[in-house]
Amino acid sequence: MLTRSDAGADPVRCHGDDVTSKGALEAVVELKGLTKRYGELKAVDDVSLAIEPGEIFALLGPNGAGKTTMIGCVTGMITGFEGRAAVAGLDVVENYRVTRRMVGLVPQELNWDAFFTVRQVLEFQAGYFGVKPTRGEIDALLDQFSLLEKADANTRWLSGGMKRRLMICKALMHDPVVLFLDEPTAGVDVELRDELWGYVEALRERGTTIVLTTHYLEEAEKLADRVGIINQGRLLRVDDREALLEAFGRRHVSVTLSEIPSPQVLEALGPHQVEVEGRTLTLSYGQTEGDEGGEVDFFLRAIVGAGARVESVEGGRSSLETIFREVLHGDLAQKEAMR
Ligand SMILES: Nc1ncnc2c1ncn2[C@@H]1O[C@H](COP(=O)(O)OP(=O)(O)OP(=O)(O)O)[C@@H](O)[C@H]1O
Ligand SMILES: [Mg+2]
Repeated sequence: MLTRSDAGADPVRCHGDDVTSKGALEAVVELKGLTKRYGELKAVDDVSLAIEPGEIFALLGPNGAGKTTMIGCVTGMITGFEGRAAVAGLDVVENYRVTRRMVGLVPQELNWDAFFTVRQVLEFQAGYFGVKPTRGEIDALLDQFSLLEKADANTRWLSGGMKRRLMICKALMHDPVVLFLDEPTAGVDVELRDELWGYVEALRERGTTIVLTTHYLEEAEKLADRVGIINQGRLLRVDDREALLEAFGRRHVSVTLSEIPSPQVLEALGPHQVEVEGRTLTLSYGQTEGDEGGEVDFFLRAIVGAGARVESVEGGRSSLETIFREVLHGDLAQKEAMR
């Protein structure tokens, strides 16, 4: 639980289970050739991946990419897969009971019996794992997630955001080594999203490894140490967030004029790839800061030289969203080429 003071002291200790630590772990979660078939469909297709202790790993992919299925294989929700999935070096099939207790799962869909109070939901969950938290420990966890005043409320009376926070508390009851958050902020408002991000960061600070899936690329960009991009069951690439931005992150400069650009301005821009949207002209260039090779200079001079009045200029680099589209495009193009 969040109240535990010896977090990280022994990454595989798990409430009395006879699991001995082998010293520093290389990988908390390890997948090797993981494949899950549903008939003809490979929902997960030959995925190999190692999640390192203490990292926040974001799994990004469109609807139906295989994210939930992948998480399901590791957390024991899904069986009958090929390849290997291990938690703290232990095969999840051979050591189901132990590995199940090392992982926490906040599923995509909210699921609990709506007849119990918040406290009861947590007590039952603890009981399921053979853990006996004190009342004070449960209160402390609820307090961390701003749910203490709802401790004795029926879960039916919670707001959507409160339910989601309760789901996280539920997944933390048995003090997992690695927490899987499947679309943790789907359908929650901006304020709650910020709050949840805060909780995730606090968890990481106390040593919990976190694997999350998300459609909010902003979320991955803000939280993740590494990002894995998955499409049609295949893990296309895994990168440090910074390396990903470095590899794909083109920079751009946008100039907003005081009026719609005249034909003279457009002509002056010549062969350069400039996007025009209303009064704004955007030039994409280079991959890293400083390698623009005079392109930006030419762009700005051409605009001013053609007599346009500049209202504002702003620069930046492409977001993960753009990168994501580029990676998926690359994958599709590669598939086309192989036909
Ligand atoms: N029990 C099942 N039986 C048959 N097909 C399934 C089953 N579960 C998932 N699939 C299929 O496997 C593929 C991957 O589904 P999955 O739920 O893992 O995607 P996802 O990446 O989590 O998508 P989303 O972002 O929409 O949550 C989809 O084509 C889905 O229809
Ligand atoms: Mg899913």
